[in-house]
Amino acid sequence: MDKKVYIETLGCQMNKSDAERMFGMLGYMGYEKTTEPRKADLLIINTCSIRQLSEDKAYSQIGVWGKWKKNRPNIKIGFSGCVAQQVKENLFKRAPYVDFVIGTQRLYELPEIVKRVENGERVCSCDEKPYTEKDYKIERVKSINAWIPIMEGCNNFCSYCIVPYTRGRERSRDFKNIMTEVKNALKEGFKEVTLLGQNVDSYHGKGGNGEDVNLSGLLKAINALEDYGKFRVRFVTSYPTDITDELIDTVLECDKVCEYFHIPMQSGDDEVLKKMNRRYDVAAYTKICNHIRSRVKDVTITSDFIAGFPGETEEQFQHTLDEMKKLELDYSNTAAYSPRERTVAAKWKDKFIPDDVKTERLARLNETNRECCVMSNKKYIGREMEVLVEKFENHNGTNVISGRTRNNKMVHIPCERDLTGEFVNVKIVGAMTWYLKGEMID
Ligand code: SAH
Ligand code: SF4
Ligand code: F3S
Repeated sequence: MDKKVYIETLGCQMNKSDAERMFGMLGYMGYEKTTEPRKADLLIINTCSIRQLSEDKAYSQIGVWGKWKKNRPNIKIGFSGCVAQQVKENLFKRAPYVDFVIGTQRLYELPEIVKRVENGERVCSCDEKPYTEKDYKIERVKSINAWIPIMEGCNNFCSYCIVPYTRGRERSRDFKNIMTEVKNALKEGFKEVTLLGQNVDSYHGKGGNGEDVNLSGLLKAINALEDYGKFRVRFVTSYPTDITDELIDTVLECDKVCEYFHIPMQSGDDEVLKKMNRRYDVAAYTKICNHIRSRVKDVTITSDFIAGFPGETEEQFQHTLDEMKKLELDYSNTAAYSPRERTVAAKWKDKFIPDDVKTERLARLNETNRECCVMSNKKYIGREMEVLVEKFENHNGTNVISGRTRNNKMVHIPCERDLTGEFVNVKIVGAMTWYLKGEMID
């Protein structure tokens, strides 16, 4: 029972959630979690390949660990996640000190793989046939919010994106398993569950009586859970055209489901959207946002944008900046386009935008994003809002609690008591770029 495992996770929440599952399975095998890589017997890098930079990080990390093996030949090194799914056994040529490569769809095979590795084997398992889900305890990162994957994979093949190649086709998890996981998380004391999926609104599972359950059905079932005290429910990420009236009705009807939609737009230009293989134009996206805003009071809508997609002209890029403002998007994740091997857009080399132009566009995108955030935050000054407290910290001599409102705004509130995990009512007194300032209402 003295063995220790360290997992370094890069990338999105799906990867972080996978890490919690890996810790759970390895805990079952007697591996204790450590936050100090130098003390670990087993080191795993859980990789992301959404952009070149994240992929490079993974390779440089195993390079460092590989060197440690010279003095400590018994440590084992594993490579998991989205880069693993792509390189497969080719990694052994590049990094001979790696002991196993495990693909995104083979996660539940980890215990068997680690057993074999302990016996001196070198293993690669990256088959695209999903390995059946097993009922291991999940070792969640201690916090207020539990991430619960409900579907995985993507069928959309946007021309820039690697995810369909690394996560496979869309698969929805079993309704019963999801409900069990939600109940367990609530029993453990989590106050918020976030349902997770690359296209979360494509969820389609089978209910207890074999009936079809979509995302609305799942949200309603979770909302109806009693005996677990007060809690909140969120869901990410939504594909714009998959948001239905039924889903909006569900958000309105279900008191625990929060007023928050993450709907990546990617570009504010119709031509670019077409080349990205997104299945909507600016008018359709606008209609969806306006519709949500007209029905759901105080709703937060966040988005993702890419700067410098192949062939993007200055004028087209300007359309993106204009749309961000026009749509009053509350916050956006931004990135410069990064060519990904195997994807369609990566072949348009003659259309690639020079790096300095991409960097400059990204800076302007970030500036517009900041303006949108400030505008969005200012709307709430003077309002009373409910905050679920996530942290208690000392900021330059003042004790502060921080947490999020139902509509996902971060609020900092001076407070002498650690109220982590509690719902408090606050008055918003100030708007910063990335957070609101609040005061306790007694
Ligand atoms: N399924 C979600 C997004 C998942 S990937 C959706 O369809 O919107 C997360 C974000 O990474 C994307 O929204 C996109 O903005 C960004 N991204 C994906 N591939 C990229 C690439 N090749 N270069 C730069 N950003 C990329
Ligand atoms: Fe990638 Fe598009 Fe799928 Fe989102 S919908 S994961 S951007 S291919
Ligand atoms: Fe990265 Fe894979 Fe997530 S590529 S963003 S870890 S799905």
